[in-house]
Amino acid sequence: MQVPLLDLRRQLKSYRDDALAAITCVVDEQSCVLGPHVQRFEEEIATYCGVPHVVGCASGTDALLLALRALGVNDGEEVVTTPYTFFATAGAIVNARGRPVFVDIERDSFNLDATQIEDALTAETRVLLPVHLYGQCADMGALNAIAKAHGLGVVEDAAQALGAEDQGRRAGSMGDIGTFSFYPSKNLGGFGDGGVMSTRDEALEARLRALRNHGGSRQYFHDEVGWNSRLDAIQAAVLSVKLKLLEGWTAGRRANAAFYDEALGGIDGLTTPPVGTGKRHIYNQYIVRSTRRDELLTHLRDKGVGCAIYYPLSLHLQPCFAALGYREGQFPESEEASKTTLSIPVNPDVTDAERAYVVETIRAFHGV
Ligand SMILES: Cc1ncc(COP(=O)(O)O)c(C=O)c1O
Repeated sequence: MQVPLLDLRRQLKSYRDDALAAITCVVDEQSCVLGPHVQRFEEEIATYCGVPHVVGCASGTDALLLALRALGVNDGEEVVTTPYTFFATAGAIVNARGRPVFVDIERDSFNLDATQIEDALTAETRVLLPVHLYGQCADMGALNAIAKAHGLGVVEDAAQALGAEDQGRRAGSMGDIGTFSFYPSKNLGGFGDGGVMSTRDEALEARLRALRNHGGSRQYFHDEVGWNSRLDAIQAAVLSVKLKLLEGWTAGRRANAAFYDEALGGIDGLTTPPVGTGKRHIYNQYIVRSTRRDELLTHLRDKGVGCAIYYPLSLHLQPCFAALGYREGQFPESEEASKTTLSIPVNPDVTDAERAYVVETIRAFHGV
């Protein structure tokens, strides 16, 4: 049996006709950049996330960049984040003219360890940038309390966490600004790149709207230099169609995860991903930790099970960040996660027979 890690063509069947109709509508209207489809999608995401304001942009990477600039990061000011995330989180800090400061992750959640943050703060710290990795929220209560005590901004990188919750609050509704990605492999993916930023603050919303469009709040009048980072109407129209199906897909992901938790729990040398109290995990990825990760990866691939390593090298050890002066061994949990974790198929299109095969293949590897 072949079980793909993700095959977007399977999901397509459930919304193909509606997506093509929505695209036709944009084609006929010729309102291709921003416009009514983008505005409607922004409102739909705002409702979904429980925030008053959402601003579309070109990608999750740009959403981070614009969010950091909107909070005023400049002149090498420090942004505290995790070294165990997709590269864009830290890349955006540098492109926003800030300096990434890494703090290690919690072992169980793979998210920023709030208990270690205060040691990393300096007079130059401006923003905390937690990532809700794999679809589980970081400890936003603790992070917001630290931010408040030290007068820092908070950006939630929610690129992998649309619909995730912490104590009943949706990802993207807890910090000053939340950032999302609609890269096609995300739980809500477009037909290309796309992103949004969410906020409860009207002034920040206005700043984000200006920054995504060359820094001007009126056409041809520019208060500051911004970017061309607008959301295409075709992406917004497709995403609106898909958003209606998202809760059903999330239920599918969560059911697959519950199946794996049950069937793979208690195997020596293998750990299923724990979920924190009061968290709604939406399983953009389902990550197991294995003491023999590389052998397990080869075994699964040999048996036709799609799997992947996110992320094989912690960001503090990336050559492009050498000048920041970090060294190996400095963030042990992050480094260990990069050596021991593996993602297995959890998307809602995995069939019962396929997930049973995934379990059987993993159990056979462990001789149980
Ligand atoms: C945690 C995280 N941050 C940022 C991004 C960047 O999003 P995009 O690919 O839309 O630029 C991604 C995904 O690609 C991500 O997983």
